[in-house]
Amino acid sequence: MIKLNGLEVSKKLREALKQSIATWANENNRPPGLSVILVGEDPASQVYVAHKEKACAQVGIQSEVIKMSGVSTFTEIEARINKLNESPNVDGILVQLPLPKHLDQRKILELISPKKDPDGLTMENIGLFYGGIHRVKSCTPNGVMEILKHYEINVEGKTAVVIGRSQIVGLPMFNLLQQAGATVTLCHSKTKNLQEHTTKADIVVAAAGQPEFLGRNDFKKDAVVIDVGIHRKEVAGKNKLVGDVKYSELDGHVKAATPVPGGVGPMTITMLLQNTFDLACSE
Ligand code: GUN
Repeated sequence: MIKLNGLEVSKKLREALKQSIATWANENNRPPGLSVILVGEDPASQVYVAHKEKACAQVGIQSEVIKMSGVSTFTEIEARINKLNESPNVDGILVQLPLPKHLDQRKILELISPKKDPDGLTMENIGLFYGGIHRVKSCTPNGVMEILKHYEINVEGKTAVVIGRSQIVGLPMFNLLQQAGATVTLCHSKTKNLQEHTTKADIVVAAAGQPEFLGRNDFKKDAVVIDVGIHRKEVAGKNKLVGDVKYSELDGHVKAATPVPGGVGPMTITMLLQNTFDLACSE
């Protein structure tokens, strides 16, 4: 079985990006800038944001994390985002999700200027994306496509199953795979006989958000398995990361699979860096 090593692919892409950014920064007398707004103290979000900050520094993107209290009002967040929309040194604005329950996520995301939206989560960018005119491609699904490209796994004419229909992963993953010429089935929590679908697919993308719920018998021989899940699990008193798939069962059966950690995860951040730089270039 081929281990689809997202960490390696990420390294290669980040090195190339670092070179392009250095040239751009020289010509523009400033680095590209990303501002991340973190509302509240969700522990997982704090970890993700710290990873994003570190990755920005690695490739030469100037990042700032704006920490706002968990009881911030819509108006307070609006004021911060408006300032960033107007700042000439800010190319990307990211509001870390999930937001505290009292805030309307859609209304907050719409405050971001679509030209500064590296997540591609504003309605304008979602519309462009589904229309096939990409300003930015959704980070995680695009990271998956880059892994497939790196390992020369051709998608055209293949059958693919995507499990999960979230706005951030499942739906845009469906879209990118079908645009690349795959015949795609979108499965979700209401799908009956999931295994009937997955065992027929050449490519399975698991983004169901359920720890280790797919195993060897859920895939056909020589399938390509992409695991988007990230879950914390206690094993012998230690915190371990696991995906939606039991990776250790797959060897000798499937053709290729992404591990967790070190698969799709690093690619999501790499695509965020790429999108931020693309937005800087398109001004
Ligand atoms: N929370 C978890 N993943 C993401 C992401 O890709 N973007 C944002 N903004 N928040 C997230």
